[in-house]
Amino acid sequence: MIVALYGSPRRRGNTARLLQAAVEGARQGGAEVREIVLRDLKINPCLEIYACRREGICVQRDDFRRLADTLLKADATMLASPIFFYTVSAQVKLMMDRCQSLWVKKYWLEKKPLGRLDNARPGLFLSAGASRGRQLFAGAEMSVRYFFDTFDTRLWKTLAYRGLDEADDILQHPEYLEEARTAGLTLAGMIKTGEQCES
Ligand SMILES: Cc1cc2nc3c(=O)[nH]c(=O)nc-3n(C[C@H](O)[C@H](O)[C@H](O)COP(=O)(O)O)c2cc1C
Repeated sequence: MIVALYGSPRRRGNTARLLQAAVEGARQGGAEVREIVLRDLKINPCLEIYACRREGICVQRDDFRRLADTLLKADATMLASPIFFYTVSAQVKLMMDRCQSLWVKKYWLEKKPLGRLDNARPGLFLSAGASRGRQLFAGAEMSVRYFFDTFDTRLWKTLAYRGLDEADDILQHPEYLEEARTAGLTLAGMIKTGEQCES
């Protein structure tokens, strides 16, 4: 199963359409895909109380627990987020911060060596921003890389597009959607063959 996380507050904006294309590609490749729209979930901010030190489980009762189970179970993850102030959307950031409980379990409780990703599953990051700066996606990509790590997923590929602002700007660029579709298809092939993720 591939989990597809829609991170924009816009349901039919640029990144949602990119992810939809990737989902279609993955399904064409025979993968089962579970689509999750983050804005529909109730996820509170991390309270930084570290109750997760006991068992590696966040004690807050909301939709995060089920989401975490899905992230841990998935064969691959596809995450879409717009760039908001040079990082991910608030919806994505809420999820990321709650994954500190997974980080605590992995690195403090299970004492896994930092920076080693054995049996990493592949992760795809899709993004869009309005401006054109060289570093536009650098902050978000770094956050995504370390978020993926908390559930043993390696950032396999980033597809990030500049100059997209209005919700349907992406429709002027069918080649971007095609790249996303191909990435989804490739991901489905990778999980079918059990290919380990190297980059
Ligand atoms: C709160 C907010 C902050 C934003 N910050 C940036 C930014 O720092 N840099 C940028 O290029 N675009 C920024 N944008 C524009 C969005 O990244 C852009 O419209 C993107 O295409 C939205 O993707 P979506 O349609 O998937 O939501 C911002 C938009 C909003 C609403």
